[in-house]
Amino acid sequence: MKKVITYGTYDLLHYGHIRLLERAKALGDYLIVGVTADSFDQQRGKLNVEQSLMERIEAVRATGLADEIIVEEYEGQKIDDIRRYGVDIFTVGSDWRGKFDYLKEYCEVVYLDRTEGISSTELRSEQHALRLGLIGESPILNKIERESHFVNGMQISGVCTEDATMLSETLHQLVMPMSQLSELIEKSDAVYVISNPRRHFEHIKQILSQGRHVLCESPIAIAPEQLSELRALAKAKGCLLVDSLKTAYSMAYSRLVLLAKSGAIGDIVSVDATCTSLAGFEATEKKKAAHLWNSICAWGPTAMLPIFQLLGIDYCSKTIATHLLGDDSDFDAFTKVTFTYPHAVASLKVGQGVKSEGSLVVSGTKGYIYVPAPWWKTDYFEIRYENPANNRRYFYQLDGEGLRYELLSFMKAVQSGRPMGYVDEPTSDAIVAVISDFYHKKNTVII
Ligand code: CTP
Repeated sequence: MKKVITYGTYDLLHYGHIRLLERAKALGDYLIVGVTADSFDQQRGKLNVEQSLMERIEAVRATGLADEIIVEEYEGQKIDDIRRYGVDIFTVGSDWRGKFDYLKEYCEVVYLDRTEGISSTELRSEQHALRLGLIGESPILNKIERESHFVNGMQISGVCTEDATMLSETLHQLVMPMSQLSELIEKSDAVYVISNPRRHFEHIKQILSQGRHVLCESPIAIAPEQLSELRALAKAKGCLLVDSLKTAYSMAYSRLVLLAKSGAIGDIVSVDATCTSLAGFEATEKKKAAHLWNSICAWGPTAMLPIFQLLGIDYCSKTIATHLLGDDSDFDAFTKVTFTYPHAVASLKVGQGVKSEGSLVVSGTKGYIYVPAPWWKTDYFEIRYENPANNRRYFYQLDGEGLRYELLSFMKAVQSGRPMGYVDEPTSDAIVAVISDFYHKKNTVII
């Protein structure tokens, strides 16, 4: 009996897949189909897969062409499978021509012509077209544009900015003056906002008023009453108003939160998060640039994320110590915030004019979690115990600093009308409350 094996994702099964399976089956007497596991697809950069593994397996089964279906979970598995199942022929579409020649050592390799004019990517893009407008002044806009290409169906519709100097060539071609903001909103389904936080309220209000969804670089606003007004408007318009905080989408970060919450280090007693970067300051000769965010806005939301997600938002007290730049009462070169909870403490240090070790440490009664700098875009962390033999290391691949996962989740949320839950509303509110206290110098010591 001649055994044939083929692999694929088989998302939104289409006639290109069916033709491939028919021809694969015709190569022998017994067809094994390997369907890729979600985690394996993620690892190899296929982020947009729409259907679950079970749905995709069911779709392949329903063709009636597969004699056996297996799951492909890891790199290198093909060699294992070919040996284990005694496979005679490995086959795959011609888009992979040459890529699997290394399997010729184990069996015959056949590349079948790919069916023209159809792919899962195209089907997903057709189903999920989302035009994303951009507003603001930041090199991060270039990253958003770059990462948007990894999200099937997402298209950048334009960028409104007051300072185009930091934009890439691609974005330069899409620049519109701020005076044309309403035109940009009109030709977008959603807008990403990274203007100065002082202007978020006005920008978001306009976007929501025009009935478009908002993804805003955290903090969404600098005063709680602004945030409430925007939330009410979003609700009235049936639009999403979502914090953009890329760390929340990093697999390593979300897994460490789950592990800590599951008791891996006992009771959590302290969370200490530090985020600093001198880049912005150096670029502006230590002078306040018109569009440079102050430290508390640039880094505060990221540093608050693990504190609020691990200890909650009901702290008993907080103190802010801040080092302001020159005579500008709002521009902090460095800020430290200390929170006291009934049974825990937390601290954050943020700085754009002061450098420190950008690590995250979560201390518990049985051990601690250590995330090395820069923890906010990490793919790695350790759980450490008194006895180092018990220490554990965790690694999760992070592509595009988490931005592509954030954009993908945002697009899915827009299409389903359901919020994403990575940064929930209470956490977002608590972030804005701290930022607001900073601006009002409440519980604040100036150093
Ligand atoms: N295939 C094909 N003709 C197509 C699409 C896919 O012959 N038009 C083949 C692929 O070469 C592969 C198998 O079907 O052998 C499974 O492909 P898969 O990657 O799941 O499908 P795509 O449509 O290519 O998916 P995507 O757009 O996500 O890459």
